[in-house]
Amino acid sequence: MLQKVQLLNYRSCIDTTMTLQPDLSVLIGPNGSGKTNLLSGLVLLRRLVEHAPGYRYEQHTATGECVLKAWFKVDGKTAILTAKIGLYTDEKNQDAVVGSSQSWYVKDFTGSAKRVHLPLNSAASMGPRGHKHGSYFLTMNARGEQVMHELYGDPDPASRAAYPVLRKIANWTQGITYYSASQFTNPSACPVSIEVETGGEARPMRRGGTAKRFLYDLYDAHREGDASYKSFKRVIGPQGIHLIDKLSFKELKTSSIDYTVRVGGQTQERRLERTLVVPQFRIGRNTLSPNQLSEGTFKTIALLFYMLTKTRTLLLLEEPEVCVHHGLLASILDLMTVESETQQIVVSTHSDFVVDRVEPRSVFAVTRSADGDTGVSSLTKSMSNKERAALHSYLETEGTLGEYWKHGALD
Ligand SMILES: Nc1ncnc2c1ncn2[C@@H]1O[C@H](COP(=O)(O)OP(=O)(O)O)[C@@H](O)[C@H]1O
Ligand SMILES: [Mg+2]
Repeated sequence: MLQKVQLLNYRSCIDTTMTLQPDLSVLIGPNGSGKTNLLSGLVLLRRLVEHAPGYRYEQHTATGECVLKAWFKVDGKTAILTAKIGLYTDEKNQDAVVGSSQSWYVKDFTGSAKRVHLPLNSAASMGPRGHKHGSYFLTMNARGEQVMHELYGDPDPASRAAYPVLRKIANWTQGITYYSASQFTNPSACPVSIEVETGGEARPMRRGGTAKRFLYDLYDAHREGDASYKSFKRVIGPQGIHLIDKLSFKELKTSSIDYTVRVGGQTQERRLERTLVVPQFRIGRNTLSPNQLSEGTFKTIALLFYMLTKTRTLLLLEEPEVCVHHGLLASILDLMTVESETQQIVVSTHSDFVVDRVEPRSVFAVTRSADGDTGVSSLTKSMSNKERAALHSYLETEGTLGEYWKHGALD
């Protein structure tokens, strides 16, 4: 779906264009070349949808402004988004969208070169036939000022013709997920049990780091028990890569009483029914809590769980080799190759082992020029015919792409 992106003035991407493969793309390149920045640049597409004007970041003023251009291919036709984005980068180096101005070039769909102004978050909230009569939406421009748009009596029927496809694209961007290299590498951050509410008011018990979140997601999937969860269990179990022998959940009902106190000292009693959920991983004769799993086992289980059970549209994965030994990594890569037929995947890596296991057309070299700009080039496309022939004969006669890379032949 996402064919190409161009980032202007975003971190080390001063003017950086990347063409993605429809299935799997692998980024290689030295430290500091901009691989992570490219992936966070792709996450901006999802942030544009999540960004609700006047909500959380209103109090911030933009710390920077960048331009993101994205080419989407839908049913063989192209829609191009140009977004000028006001960003606030927080102390964790994560971006929040403060405001944006977005316009679409959708001639393939409308027959007209006239730009359609419809922000992604508004497109996502639209019904299948566009906005209701009399709808309006608020956006913020890149300076963070609110702008109201009325859709009532839209004078331009051509724009309306583009709404279904923009809605599709907006929904697609919500399926973008990013996993950093250190994600799930710390099983000790994982609690030994979780609590879910079985009655009464919902409580925000699900807060916490990603490891805890993972347990909730795992338990939810266990309760729903659909086919994708069963296939996940098969993959990690004895019939698959045999990471564990069995995964089960012990469920214990608990209850407690809570009081609400009103003015005048009136009290109201509330009974809270909860379930204490204790996940158990059996490996051989041992039954283990999640925080007793090895780093590689925990990371692999979590990654495979998300890869196999959640429908992602674009999966961004940093350095899958971190904490994972080669045998497991090979399994992750095999599954990734299969999954990339139904979801787009972009991986960054420092491992020649990873490069070995993907097709040369999937590999992209990320470099930084003398003036600090990040550049991306497809390995096979940027080669001269002679270099390509040399690579081809190397792969045929001597070794693997990873070795070729290790020997510096790709630099
Ligand atoms: N918010 C930011 N603004 C500007 N530059 C940044 C920001 N975050 C990181 N950088 C810089 O961008 C460069 C590339 O970083 P990164 O994408 O993390 O490289 P890689 O992942 O390839 O190792 C580094 O020099 C880094 O210091
Ligand atoms: Mg990085």
